[in-house]
Amino acid sequence: MRTIIEPFRIKMTEPLKLISRDQRLEALKRAHYNVFLLDAEDCCIDLLTDSGTGAMSTQQWAAMMIGDESYAGSRSWKKFAQTVQTITGMKHVFPTHQGRAAEGILAYTRLKPGDVIPNNSHFDTTRANVEFVGARAVDLVCAEGLEPGLEAPFKGNMDLVKLQRCIDEHGPQKIPFCMITVTNNTGGGQPVAMANVRQVKQLLNKHRIPLVIDACRFAENAYFIHEREPGYKDKSLLAIAQEMFSYADAATMSCKKDGLANIGGFFTCRDDQWAEDFKNLLILREGFPTYGGLAGRDLEVIAVGLNEALEEDYQVYRHATVQYLGKKLAALGVPFVRPVGGHAVFLDAKAFVPHVPALQYPGIGLVNALYVAGGIRGVELGSVMFGRFDKDGREQPSPLELVRLAFPRRVYTQSHFDYLIEVVEEVWRNRQAVGGHRITYQPRFLRHFSAHFEAV
Ligand code: F0G
Repeated sequence: MRTIIEPFRIKMTEPLKLISRDQRLEALKRAHYNVFLLDAEDCCIDLLTDSGTGAMSTQQWAAMMIGDESYAGSRSWKKFAQTVQTITGMKHVFPTHQGRAAEGILAYTRLKPGDVIPNNSHFDTTRANVEFVGARAVDLVCAEGLEPGLEAPFKGNMDLVKLQRCIDEHGPQKIPFCMITVTNNTGGGQPVAMANVRQVKQLLNKHRIPLVIDACRFAENAYFIHEREPGYKDKSLLAIAQEMFSYADAATMSCKKDGLANIGGFFTCRDDQWAEDFKNLLILREGFPTYGGLAGRDLEVIAVGLNEALEEDYQVYRHATVQYLGKKLAALGVPFVRPVGGHAVFLDAKAFVPHVPALQYPGIGLVNALYVAGGIRGVELGSVMFGRFDKDGREQPSPLELVRLAFPRRVYTQSHFDYLIEVVEEVWRNRQAVGGHRITYQPRFLRHFSAHFEAV
């Protein structure tokens, strides 16, 4: 088989520079050893997130120019709404400025203190929005999903037994909806099988609990189903996505991922009352329902991007880049979550630096070492991001200590990945030098964004 090439060529470039090792050490110190606080210019290869960091296509740039900036009922809005309706089959569509705005309004309009929201794994903003209104976010990913080294095709699946138990324990009246995140970002970017979505829906139906899909990476998930699940090889990614959404009652979306846009999100649902409640708060918080915090040109860009994300040659290339990194790291013996996810490779920090205790945040040590070694910016998904405290205020470690190297869409080429592999190899060989950290400052919510650290 020949090399899978990027199905695009580059028309515009952006300079990339690598500051010296001493400058990187200095920059990291200034950032209190939290890479979120670095200047982006000081990061050579920025794998902090795949969110809003993608490159737009010529079609998207062209679409920007025909954005209709009317306050109400713009042409761009119609294009946006029709695209979302075609993919999801849902009646009501509301743009939001990004995914968490949709989550926040959904949580605020549907939840009350004491409610329980099951999910395969909540993303941090989803969890924070659920908890902010006094509800509880519970993660019920399947057992395979908690074993980083295990190869399985659909490690993002919801555990149906745990879901049933959760419903029995709390009662359906305490569960205003259940969520499922595709792909399962915090569990390693692992996909959810169509069969699982269907079974979750069947189980929820018995208790009249609606299903909400966190659809950020729905197109990547559709490609995994296409490749791995029997019966889907001959279906288009659009048809697969449509079937998946057919099992849902609503969806939240960050268009900064599979919308291939730099900003944007939406909420979509079938129920008229849900829509009415959402709309009223949307007007208060985001904007009039036909723009919801976005410019007309953003709506155009997203309408094009959602369709481009469902093009098969794009997904073939996208998955090939992640697989490429996975194969090279496996050859080096570097521990990472198997199989690789749709948007990222997740290094297993617990296995990478087993000498660092969980509450000295092995992920932070590893992220910082990658930055110092080569200007690579990754992100910790472990005890800092998912920090939990028991009722006596004692900090509880997260079950997984991961470092995510997330791939912006259509941005980096194979030589960037080769360079990245060289840097990871260097850190791997010198892993004994990676040490622990302690927190010197943390805010109340979402502490990973702005916490300060020092070396232990
Ligand atoms: N849900 C999932 C699964 C996500 O990955 C994200 C964002 C959101 C919701 C929120 O969307 O950022 O538009 O408000 N994830 C980014 C990331 C930030 O780096 O994984 P948003």
